[in-house]
Amino acid sequence: MKQTEEHSSLRENRAPLKEHQAPLKELDEWDDFVATRYRQGKSEEEFRNYKADANPTVTEFYRQNHKYQTLDFVLEKKAEYCGLKRGQKSIWEMADYLNTLVDDSDPDTDVTQIEHLLQTAEAIRKDGHPRWFVLAGFLHDLGKVLCLYGEPQWAVVGDTFPTGCAYSDQVVFPEFFAANPDSGKPEYQTQYGIYEPHCGLDNVHLSFGHDEYIFRVTEKYLPEEAQYMLRYHSFYAAHRHGAYRQLMNEHDNAMFEWVRKFNPYDLYSKGRERPNTKEILPYYRELVSEFFPDKIDW
Ligand SMILES: [Fe+2]
Ligand SMILES: [Fe+2]
Repeated sequence: MKQTEEHSSLRENRAPLKEHQAPLKELDEWDDFVATRYRQGKSEEEFRNYKADANPTVTEFYRQNHKYQTLDFVLEKKAEYCGLKRGQKSIWEMADYLNTLVDDSDPDTDVTQIEHLLQTAEAIRKDGHPRWFVLAGFLHDLGKVLCLYGEPQWAVVGDTFPTGCAYSDQVVFPEFFAANPDSGKPEYQTQYGIYEPHCGLDNVHLSFGHDEYIFRVTEKYLPEEAQYMLRYHSFYAAHRHGAYRQLMNEHDNAMFEWVRKFNPYDLYSKGRERPNTKEILPYYRELVSEFFPDKIDW
């Protein structure tokens, strides 16, 4: 993965990525693995064999993700980023910035980051969903700019899961949690861990990544259904497999209907034709300015 030379001012604090923190050739390798895992029409038996779909780099990525995402790490990253102290930028400046994440692989077949956002949003728009839903599609992966801030891949993407309580075997590669230091803390390894039964996901510290960051950046501008879509779109153990119900409250259960409604657009819009960016951009400019002021805190 490399970056183009623009936006150097945004990159000034970026620490060089150590080789071992970037096992994926491109961030999209993780997204592609998830899409394969949930390929439409896959039988339950085929699904349970998901490890066959994971190449060695994806497997190494999960090994790191499950090892390093401790509760302390999550709290540290939330303190670092969720106060939104990195300055004011428009949605469009950040979308352009995200697009500087250029893949080393074939540019003819791989869509850019903005194209993925537009494809997701366009599929939602074509199905006649409300404007805020289309907007959620356009925004949902903007939090991947964390990678450009210098965060390792395992802190940006990956299936999210609660920290501070026992790991569910519904999270992919659950065996890798054995290397997480929290596994050695008995108080974190009960069904509820540090949480109260049905305390609500807002009180639960999920592993840190692009979901939580974009949720925080956009929360005060979007309806709650969209907030849930952004915040929990990578929480597959819960929205696909029904795990962690003991931490969710009634409100979470109701709102997860929307997370599930959103998920197929994220997973399955990639194979579609490349969006005609020039033609549809005016619609998205208007949509973004309907919900957001020119600059927001990041
Ligand atoms: Fe995502
Ligand atoms: Fe996505």
